Amino acid sequence: MRAPSRKAPATPAKAAADAVLVRPVRRGDLDQVIALDATVTGLEKQSYWRSVYRRYGAGTHEQRHFLVAVSGKAIVGFLIGEVRDWEFGSPPCGWVFAIDVRPDARQAGVGTRLLEAISALFRRAGVTKLRTMLASDNTLILSFFRSQGMTAGSLIPLEMDLQ
Ligand SMILES: CC(C)(COP(=O)(O)OP(=O)(O)OC[C@H]1O[C@@H](n2cnc3c(N)ncnc32)[C@H](O)[C@@H]1OP(=O)(O)O)[C@@H](O)C(=O)NCCC(=O)NCCS
Repeated sequence: MRAPSRKAPATPAKAAADAVLVRPVRRGDLDQVIALDATVTGLEKQSYWRSVYRRYGAGTHEQRHFLVAVSGKAIVGFLIGEVRDWEFGSPPCGWVFAIDVRPDARQAGVGTRLLEAISALFRRAGVTKLRTMLASDNTLILSFFRSQGMTAGSLIPLEMDLQ
């Protein structure tokens, strides 16, 4: 009888996530990123994404990160975040402000891989706190962040209408 492989993936989902590469975005990825965002938000924001690419993806700022998850030639997810210094009275901390995984690639560990990748970059920058914001009715993204160990933080959001 063959001994079980010590490297066998625990689940098919884990195997799918292991086959995904997480790397910094490239200009040639943008069309797929825009299409993925449009499937989630219903809006195709060409100029917005080109501006985000210039600010976060062009490798010009070491504190800013725009990562993509790639399976073969397909972009199956992206995440954007940055280290912010002393904003809201807080010592430098890592903010994640966008994450999307393609609907047909979800629940296979891709979102987890993206969050792990940016957490590693933040740790390397000396940051020990990860923060994000989410719409209070977005239970999917809340479940995801809770699964990663995130809990209610010490900051509270405030807003008002300006009309
Ligand atoms: C949230 C999102 C990024 C998760 O990506 P994903 O690749 O499916 O996440 P993972 O497979 O790594 O899941 C990790 C954990 O998240 C939780 N989770 C993921 N999908 C879930 C679902 N549909 N229901 C409940 N919990 C879920 C689970 O606890 C899961 O762990 P498990 O697989 O052991 O149960 C993805 O669903 C997505 O892109 N949603 C839309 C995001 C969005 O609204 N973005 C706009 C605001 S920035």
